[in-house]
Amino acid sequence: MGFADNKRGGFKGGRGGARGGRGGGRGGFGGRGGSRGGAGGRGGFKGGRGGARGGRGGPKGGRGAKGAAKVVIEPHRHEGVFIARGKEDLLVTKNLVPGESVYGEKRISVDNADGTKTEYRVWNPFRSKIAAGILGGLDNIYIKPGAKVLYLGGASGTTVSHVADIVGPTGNVYAVEFSLRVGRELINVAKKRTNVIPIIEDARYPQKYRMLVPMVDVVFADVAQPDQARIIAMNAHMFCKIGGHIVISIKASCIDSTMEPAKVFASEVKKLQSEKIKPREQLTLEPYERDHAIVVGEYRPRPKK
Ligand SMILES: C[S@@+](CC[C@H](N)C(=O)[O-])C[C@H]1O[C@@H](n2cnc3c(N)ncnc32)[C@H](O)[C@@H]1O
Repeated sequence: MGFADNKRGGFKGGRGGARGGRGGGRGGFGGRGGSRGGAGGRGGFKGGRGGARGGRGGPKGGRGAKGAAKVVIEPHRHEGVFIARGKEDLLVTKNLVPGESVYGEKRISVDNADGTKTEYRVWNPFRSKIAAGILGGLDNIYIKPGAKVLYLGGASGTTVSHVADIVGPTGNVYAVEFSLRVGRELINVAKKRTNVIPIIEDARYPQKYRMLVPMVDVVFADVAQPDQARIIAMNAHMFCKIGGHIVISIKASCIDSTMEPAKVFASEVKKLQSEKIKPREQLTLEPYERDHAIVVGEYRPRPKK
């Protein structure tokens, strides 16, 4: 099951090879385009890393009513994620803490029919692998309103904050990060986003935080470690519901910088399989990240009736 040169590799047969390369090299916003809820390649993030961070003349948030007049918000096919259609199409999440940005991202406020306003935060795929995976065309991320997500490698909370927006007030994000330096910022994110539970621990020792984390729907890992398959498996065995899901970002050079990335991805997938994680989808993250893949798997799938 190799996905050598393909952007996308399905595990369901017939989906992988032929469609390889979609979205690659465009530098723009959309993998799949309109009909699947992608944003159609209009180029929201052409500037590469940092392109959507405010930039020259770009407001660092709080665009307010002026910008709102031209923007139409549409739900993305991934529940809890939205597309802001305007001069450029942008992936956005509904801001759980209106009036505040987390990492300098733009905010877009729109007027509702009842006279109220809703604020969204721009989600930059160059700064978040989940956003890159969504724009690349992942079928399902299982992170949705009400979900409980165990997030390994929370860093300073950039992506954690968007996951918190998606799961909303009825969901939770248990964010594990072992670096004290970035962990401090993660804790600050959690002060305002009360559905985030920051856990400053090493994800290799899940028993240390077992009192804090319930059974979860999704385990997401972005730890960039050579033993990350083992790390996610240990956490899944302890916290993932039967039939729940894992989403893992794999940076080939962190596992083995001498091996061809496609081979690294295949060997990581094998490790997951040996831990009762059934791979369902695989996607490389170009053009947003080089030599990265995202794999979605099902934990201990229930036998079909
Ligand atoms: C690539 S960064 C994560 C970026 C983050 N997911 C985002 O999108 O905002 C990887 C993070 O994993 C953390 N990390 C690495 N190994 C870890 C471990 N064993 N336990 C907890 N955190 C770990 C690192 O300190 C780093 O902050």
